Amino acid sequence: STTLGQHAAARGKYFGSATDNPELSDAPYVSILGSEFNQITVGNTMKWQYTEPTQGQFSYGQADTIVNLARANNQSVRGHTLVWHSQYPGWVDSVPASQLLGVMRNHISNVAGHFNGQVIHWDVVNEAFEENGTRRQSVFQRNIGDSYIAEAFRAARAADPTAKLYYNDYNIEGLGAKSDAVYNLVQSFKQQGVPIDGVGMQAHLIIGQVPSSVQQNIQRFAALGVDVAITELDIRMNLPRDTTKDTQQANDYRTVVNACLAVTRCVGITVWDYTDKYSWIPSVFPGQGAALPYDENLNKKPAYTAIHDAL
Ligand code: XIL
Repeated sequence: STTLGQHAAARGKYFGSATDNPELSDAPYVSILGSEFNQITVGNTMKWQYTEPTQGQFSYGQADTIVNLARANNQSVRGHTLVWHSQYPGWVDSVPASQLLGVMRNHISNVAGHFNGQVIHWDVVNEAFEENGTRRQSVFQRNIGDSYIAEAFRAARAADPTAKLYYNDYNIEGLGAKSDAVYNLVQSFKQQGVPIDGVGMQAHLIIGQVPSSVQQNIQRFAALGVDVAITELDIRMNLPRDTTKDTQQANDYRTVVNACLAVTRCVGITVWDYTDKYSWIPSVFPGQGAALPYDENLNKKPAYTAIHDAL
């Protein structure tokens, strides 16, 4: 039967999954990962804590393992992520403020340089805004200032001129203060010539609560002249699963897929891993889970069928 990746490709888009190194010892999991999807995101091991755990010492073995697997399966790779307030090594907090811009540029130059030619996109900056649209007070914001985002994009372009450069965040799928802030950032970058090519909407959603404005919001970013990607889709529920919740979830996945299909500049969708067996949700949202299109036994759920039929 045809795969999600094949269906997406026929629509000019990708349908991908995140994965992580520990799961690669699970042969049945790896088999589906390699056959069903035409795009892969490295879920953890491209992050700063893995790639530059000690200042100036770069480590790419784990990320390379996933990139090489994706290449063997003819899958494209999204790079995730260069600058983020989370999962960076402790030494970054000790860098004198006046030196952090150089340290950030050096990190981006090394990591994006290493993967030059191997990733279609970079999530250059991740989660820089608060819910009310103000800047998150990360170490980069505090010690470099507002300009750190533009500087990160310039450094990424210099290191890998072919990768499309994305700003990525959560709770920006619908209209609202946070997505307005990202909209204003993209608009100002376009006006100032700062290199930005796309907006990543993470889409960590809840069943029955998909914003009704997703398609309209994707469309307004596209109208600014950037691509949009759904980068980390999962749609969680209060456990345990039941038939009613599974049906709602299937409808919600269909809504998101249809919103992307409706906008030419929405280039693809990535689920944040494909099976409930390896979802991050239960560890971070206690009592919630079952957020993905395959269950923990690698069986397809109603959400899978909804995605397959929508594509
Ligand atoms: C998550 C991973 O899935 C977990 O394994 C890890 O412990 C924490 O990070 N937004 C992001 C992703 O951009 O990088 C996060 O991934 C989920 C939220």
